Amino acid sequence: METRGKNLAHFMELPDRDIFAKTRPFYEFMEQLTAEHHHHWHRVLTSPSEARVRIIDRYTGQEREMINLASNNYLGLTTHPKVVEAGIKAYEKYGAGAGSVPLLGGTMLLHRELEQRLAAMKGCEDAIIFTSGYSTNVGCISGLVRKCDVAINDRLNHASIIDGCRLSGASFRTFRHNDPASLAEVLAECDREFQGKLVIVDGVYSMDGDIARLPEFLPIIRKYGARLMIDEAHATGVLGAHGRGTPEHYGLEGQIDIVAGTLSKALGGVGGFVASTREVVHYLRFYARSYMFSTALPPAVTASLIAAVEVIQEDHALRERLWRNIRFFTDNLRQLGFNLGQAETAIIPIIVGDQERLKALSREVHEAGLFINPVYYPAVPKKQDRLRISLMATLEQSDLDYALEVLEKVGRKYGLI
Ligand SMILES: Cc1ncc(COP(=O)(O)O)c(C=O)c1O
Repeated sequence: METRGKNLAHFMELPDRDIFAKTRPFYEFMEQLTAEHHHHWHRVLTSPSEARVRIIDRYTGQEREMINLASNNYLGLTTHPKVVEAGIKAYEKYGAGAGSVPLLGGTMLLHRELEQRLAAMKGCEDAIIFTSGYSTNVGCISGLVRKCDVAINDRLNHASIIDGCRLSGASFRTFRHNDPASLAEVLAECDREFQGKLVIVDGVYSMDGDIARLPEFLPIIRKYGARLMIDEAHATGVLGAHGRGTPEHYGLEGQIDIVAGTLSKALGGVGGFVASTREVVHYLRFYARSYMFSTALPPAVTASLIAAVEVIQEDHALRERLWRNIRFFTDNLRQLGFNLGQAETAIIPIIVGDQERLKALSREVHEAGLFINPVYYPAVPKKQDRLRISLMATLEQSDLDYALEVLEKVGRKYGLI
């Protein structure tokens, strides 16, 4: 099968009366990419998601070590001794699972404790936890926004936000990425047409690593009587002097209507949360269907997350190390001449812009021992295909030096610098 120019959207659009028909050409397409050593998804790890990972290389069948520039475990908390110990103790005391959905017997004291700690961290009255960041956005948005309302999204919002908007059955509109003037235009139009208005942005954008311009957005949102929801997936633990996220970064704590996020990135576990007023959180406990109809987080995971919140608030050295790594790596890549877009956090895109070049280049990066994900259209806009790097506090200087050496070499070879 010819792989050039094909992507996931291509296979979704193949017409056929048999719903399985698209699966065979897609399977063959992926087999071909694997044969060409261009298939880097689902790399299988045999170690924790730390700065150095061990993987089974599908091209050689051998286990090998790689430098991990692809994990959202920003502070290394997945294996932090306090986080692991708290999980083990809870495992021994409570066993493997919560046993039920929160409403019907699955709410443990541990869940309430985590919710209260997250509410305090986010400066909100209360919080509700979900079993993933994805189900958080889907449940929160579809639970709150009704058919007569409108959800207004930054064009680069995460897929889980878009899915929440779709599931709500409400209309949704988009504004240009991180552009207050564009938001103002969309809000003015929506004001005439709809009842409630929810503006939704990522605190830190998951493919671009830039930060939402909240200080400019907020007055516009207030002017139109809209509400603001931010997704702090990549900001919690990373931004702000105490790791409390984007509002702390800007000095806007207590001013955001809904602060959502994941527990799977800097917090090192799995799950998600919404922090807001007591009434909003209470409402979501009954109307967010992904909360209502899904078994609560396992107690051991919950206990680890409580410990992770504590570590984030107590151990500032970890965040300082992360920021040292971010500054060093970003400055050096920019000095070499790479196009990093507006990157300003632990997510650093290297924009390549064309699919074939990205395929070839990411194969070389893989072979040199760097675990970095290529991201193609439609996951990012057309001609914005990229290597998506994410950094951890636990990466050593020697890891970063080696990564820069490799990236400089391939960058020159493929005309990126
Ligand atoms: C901005 C954003 N929101 C939500 C999610 C979903 O979170 P989770 O992986 O915890 O389901 C992700 C990434 O996975 C994300 O990048």
